[in-house]
Amino acid sequence: MSDTTSSVPFVDLKRLQAPLRADLEAAFSRVLDHGIYVLGPEVQAFEQQLSGYLGAADTAGVSCGTDALLAAFLALGLPAGGEILMTPLSFIASASSVLRAGLRPVFVDLPDIGFHPSPQAFEDAWTPATVGVLAVHLFGEPVPMADVAALCARRGGVLVEDCAQAIGARTPSGASVGLAGAAGTLSFFPAKNLGALGDGGAVFGSDPALIAHVRRIRQHGRRARDAYDELGGNFRLDALQAAMLRVLLPALDDWTQARAANAASYLAAFAPLERAGQLQLPQPLAGHAWNQFCIRTPHRANLVEALTAAGIGHAVYYTRALHQQAALAAAVPAEHLPNAERCCAEVLAIPVYPGLTEAERNRVIEVVTQTLPC
Ligand SMILES: Cc1ncc(COP(=O)(O)O)c(C=O)c1O
Repeated sequence: MSDTTSSVPFVDLKRLQAPLRADLEAAFSRVLDHGIYVLGPEVQAFEQQLSGYLGAADTAGVSCGTDALLAAFLALGLPAGGEILMTPLSFIASASSVLRAGLRPVFVDLPDIGFHPSPQAFEDAWTPATVGVLAVHLFGEPVPMADVAALCARRGGVLVEDCAQAIGARTPSGASVGLAGAAGTLSFFPAKNLGALGDGGAVFGSDPALIAHVRRIRQHGRRARDAYDELGGNFRLDALQAAMLRVLLPALDDWTQARAANAASYLAAFAPLERAGQLQLPQPLAGHAWNQFCIRTPHRANLVEALTAAGIGHAVYYTRALHQQAALAAAVPAEHLPNAERCCAEVLAIPVYPGLTEAERNRVIEVVTQTLPC
């Protein structure tokens, strides 16, 4: 019998951090003891640890995933007004950072199925004004980059990968996402796969000169003491967050495995619903980091009602596409991107975070299968 009063949180970070509490407190004390609160040895040590984890030549810790994108684009020094091809389905920061760096986003529609524009769609959208592609590994999906990287190389454009939702995601060769182009960016917002106890972010890549440039930009373009050669910003990572992240990073692969196990259960349980046309499942790519488990269904309103009644956390990423956001009006106009708009009307995320218990997961499966009978 099911317990209809039970509630299943969408995310409960306290469950993940509880086993690490003593180590987090020790790291907190260490920072209080040395008293260096911005950048410094904690940030340096975390950057090295993270470069090792990612297989990157170098990594610069920054204030958040938004500033990671902004700093990466500023460091690349692209011509003002240059156009960046990108998905219309992402968090606003993906596009606003492009605009704030003096560039213009061009939104490329999604295919019928799937959450990412195809390499061919990027190629078709390329014009003489295009200076590169921003690929977003949305929901933790390790989107194959070989064709897009080759396109950028052929046309002399840059490739930046927004990996805010995808730390821990791996390509088929086992490499981290984010290393196919000039730079990868990360967010350590608490609900991300590796979340700090506040905001944080990073820019990483294979070119140490570019990451060194990001380090200058994160300190207002500072070349040396009181010498500023270019404009940057205050994009520094706090030592406290770096200290917390040094404790949390070693747990990331276990958490990713737990996410993958939750996703595998959902994929198996919902396969008959997909065959019956009730929903579309996310692509179960190997190396997926499952930051979100997003289904698509034309029956979303019913499902939202049922999940809400059962006390099961859920969320819509995103209720509207980026070309529909008033704040991004300075992007290259895209009147109508039908597939992205349909996706926004159908997409729904259910709990997949590593703290989910088996009973909670089964409860989610029960409510979804009861609501969308096949
Ligand atoms: C795809 C994507 N890019 C960028 C960001 C921005 O990261 P932050 O919130 O750390 O600034 C986010 C955060 O939600 C994101 O999901």
